[in-house]
Amino acid sequence: MWSEANLLLLLGFTRALCREMASRSIRVNALLPGWVNSSMWTDLKPELQQAYLKDTPLNRVADPAEVADAALFLASNGFANNCILNLDGGLSAA
Ligand SMILES: *[C@@H]1O[C@H](CO)[C@@H](O)[C@H](O)[C@H]1NC(C)=O
Repeated sequence: MWSEANLLLLLGFTRALCREMASRSIRVNALLPGWVNSSMWTDLKPELQQAYLKDTPLNRVADPAEVADAALFLASNGFANNCILNLDGGLSAA
């Protein structure tokens, strides 16, 4: 769901911000969710839903709680810095 160009921008931005904020002891991480069970997903055309599910090895969308759990991990783990967390059920491997 992320284009290669946007992914590179995001990685570069995270890395730059990580270096920039280090002196202030601020950690910078990126959480990259795939499709999440939300109105954004349910409003999607069924054909598109099927196509995304087919490309997602886990063959389902995320529960919002699973994304919240990942955000909590990034916020609470003091060694998570410039951590790029793909949480897309494997869609990015397609
Ligand atoms: C999405 O959430 C609704 C409400 O909690 C639930 O009924 C439904 O089964 C969920 N759908 C998927 C694809 O997870």
